[in-house]
Amino acid sequence: MTIKLKKQVIEIFNIIKKKSTEIVAEDLAEELNIDYIVLMSAVNDLIAQDLGGFKEKEIYNVAPNEEGRVYLEKGFPERQLLNLMLESDVKEISLKDLMKKSGMERNIFYVGISNLKKSRWISQSKASGENKIFLIAEEFPQTEIEKFFDRFKENSIVDYSELSKQDKKVLDILNKRKLIKKIQRTKRIIYLTEIGSNISTSEIEELKQISKITPEMLSSGNWQKYDLKPFDVTKPGPLLKTGKIHPLVNLINKIREVFLSMGFTEIRGPIIESAFYCFDALFQPQDHPAREMQDTFYLNNPKTAKLPEKDRVLAVKEIHENGGDSGSIGWGYQWDIETAKKTVMRTHTTATTMRRLSEFYRNNDNVPVKVFCVDRVFRNEKLDKTHLAELTQIEGIVIDDNVTLCDLIGLLAEFYRKLGFKKIMTRPGFFPYTEPSMEVSVYYDKLGEWLEMGGSGIFRPEVTYPWGIREPTRVLAWGQGLERIAMPYYGRKDIRDFYVNQLKWLRQQSYLK
Ligand code: PHE
Repeated sequence: MTIKLKKQVIEIFNIIKKKSTEIVAEDLAEELNIDYIVLMSAVNDLIAQDLGGFKEKEIYNVAPNEEGRVYLEKGFPERQLLNLMLESDVKEISLKDLMKKSGMERNIFYVGISNLKKSRWISQSKASGENKIFLIAEEFPQTEIEKFFDRFKENSIVDYSELSKQDKKVLDILNKRKLIKKIQRTKRIIYLTEIGSNISTSEIEELKQISKITPEMLSSGNWQKYDLKPFDVTKPGPLLKTGKIHPLVNLINKIREVFLSMGFTEIRGPIIESAFYCFDALFQPQDHPAREMQDTFYLNNPKTAKLPEKDRVLAVKEIHENGGDSGSIGWGYQWDIETAKKTVMRTHTTATTMRRLSEFYRNNDNVPVKVFCVDRVFRNEKLDKTHLAELTQIEGIVIDDNVTLCDLIGLLAEFYRKLGFKKIMTRPGFFPYTEPSMEVSVYYDKLGEWLEMGGSGIFRPEVTYPWGIREPTRVLAWGQGLERIAMPYYGRKDIRDFYVNQLKWLRQQSYLK
């Protein structure tokens, strides 16, 4: 029986046959000066004919990390400090002076000092009143870790399996000092099967395959003489790394579609807001903790914002002081217009909603009004896996007669259902501007948890009265976090993922979602 193989595969096969040692695929590709993929595809042809195969072997290499590489060149901090003392020929020096002289970062300096003490090359004493270092040894031979590190001068990596017991102990120390990185790799070892090792060259024939038919071949009828290379449609095609829309923008567009399909129109407002629209119009007392510096970014430039028409400002003032004509008794303090003029980075898009309520008043609009806003907000917040300081909010309001909490829950459920989330939960919550108020959560199956998406509620009369909105007209409002929604939407566990631009993940995202 003869076996047919491509010319190059025969060549590679013959070379493998001649080798007596273990054949590492990468090494062989390098030796033959061919692409690794070409070699492995040849090996696959051998596998198909039962002539050869490959095994995978995990290998661990170790190498100095970034900090380690610096020490490879300059010496460990302890050696650097020692050299400093030796060069300037001082047997004692104050800790402070040595630190200054070394120009080292504080913590690295102390690592050096502590290791010099461990080797008993120096001692430290405050006996003279000053914190001093004394050189107490005569000789300063290479330490174990220095000897170990030296081998990286010749080889950039070292095979872990080739290390002795003693080496591994030293490596442990370097690991604890966080100067080493582990590199894990899979090595492919090529071998021949019994058939492959015993087959004689005369039993192998060259396979003449073509992958293209030219017009000439067609007209001459020559094509019939050739073996056609079959297409393997199960093999993945090359990865196209072309530009595409960022997943967050895709989601924003999707959310726009959802709102539009529910009969809403989009509104936008300024990022730099007055405290008036951000807080005062929302009946947040001027000493409310959310206004404090920790949560809100106040601006120096511009320092003050323009307020709306005087009588509306006055109406808001009345509400705060005594409830005005809303039926409320207000907060009972003296409202300060200067505090309301302060400029802030908008902390929520509810500020933009308030601007829409003021227009409602000015335009004498008819109900219903259904608007939404998807935009940036800013909070002086610690970042963690569910919190961002700069985030996107999705805000919606419905101004209509006799609307109720049931309508609000229905709208939220519909909104999330259209985004593909079936399980939502609302719980009683608190916002100074809504009554009743609800927290909205969505079930995230990947984490097995409910993720909080934001707040919602019906605006209090104290919020709506200054803008001429009164019973039976009510305002349903909600504000949700876009990036929070994006987590279950894209299956991410860390909200920061959307802003670190991990290329690997971005490339895997589909063009349309
Ligand atoms: N503004 C609230 C927030 O930023 C959300 C909210 C909007 C709550 C509208 C109730 C009504 O968390």
